[in-house]
Amino acid sequence: VALPDEHKFQARIDAEEKIEPKDWMPEGYRKNLIRQMSQHAHSEVVGEQPEGNWITRAPSLERKAILLAKVQDEAGHGLYLYSAAETLGATRDEMIEALHEGKAKYASIFNYPSLTWADIGAIGWLVDSAAIVNQVSLQNTSYGPYARAMIRICKEESFHQRQGYHIMMTLMDGSDEQKAMAQDAINRWWWPAMMMFGPHDGESAHSAQSMKWKIKRRSNDDLRQQWVDQAVQQAHAIGLEVPDDDLTWNEERGHYDFGPIDWDEFNRVIAGDGPCNRQRLAHHKKAHDDGAWVREAMSAYDAKRRAKSSA
Ligand code: 3HC
Repeated sequence: VALPDEHKFQARIDAEEKIEPKDWMPEGYRKNLIRQMSQHAHSEVVGEQPEGNWITRAPSLERKAILLAKVQDEAGHGLYLYSAAETLGATRDEMIEALHEGKAKYASIFNYPSLTWADIGAIGWLVDSAAIVNQVSLQNTSYGPYARAMIRICKEESFHQRQGYHIMMTLMDGSDEQKAMAQDAINRWWWPAMMMFGPHDGESAHSAQSMKWKIKRRSNDDLRQQWVDQAVQQAHAIGLEVPDDDLTWNEERGHYDFGPIDWDEFNRVIAGDGPCNRQRLAHHKKAHDDGAWVREAMSAYDAKRRAKSSA
């Protein structure tokens, strides 16, 4: 008896097969992936704003060159992810429109301001290490184009994390003011980084289905715990304190226990009421409109080229 498509599809997932663009897939699988991949791409692109804010004010030519390279990488990550999402039938215009209309999300952490140079260290170190923990796991996601994009992106992320941590190491090896600046940065970026892994598993809207379809390979809380265990040691190694009075090593669990996450703040920020949400969207819209002429010129050129080659 021919199995309905859904069962055949689930059997392929269970057999660890990669799903490719032309394969049959349940509509829900396609929609879930377009949601997650487009929001992943939006996060990469919007994330360039807090960092780009310091390119002209980097303390040395070397730091400026490194930061420029990182911001450029993030644009590339956005490009891979938009292209991978397009293989599922979403168009770039639809995804950008969803972002501009507040229908699509991007990582809440990018709605916080980058106030000092130490923030660039904290973002590179904490945000990119959280992204690495998440993205290493996503390398095994069941959708082929997404998994392959992750493999490429993960290679570049380790440089991002290392340069951020090096900035923090340098500051913690500096004057009292520099040490205070680094501690102030981790105080402001630690908890938003915790939120990058999403709600607790019990409150996660998509986790159960995403785990069944192997879109998500490890749970939000599992990835968060791995990140905490490594980030706390890295903080302590350079003399930084973690802004969590409940943080304690739990010998039995072999992990750090940590304090409660402020989910009211999380929900406020993802609902559009974070410190920089309006500014981030306005900036993205302006850049998109200012770049319209480039897109028009490219498609005019492309049309001319096609007309010539088919003449
Ligand atoms: N910021 C904004 N929204 C978030 C969020 C966060 N930190 N965490 C969760 N959400 C949203 C989800 O998108 C979902 O909303 P939606 O239905 O409108 O999409 C809702 O909260 C419920 O969360 P779920 O756990 O049910 O959602 P997911 O199963 O999608 O899990 C996720 C959330 C773990 C972020 C998952 O989507 C994921 O792994 N995404 C890919 C990784 C990613 O997007 N990373 C963003 C940072 S990229 C980055 O930092 C680049 C670096 O190089 C600078």
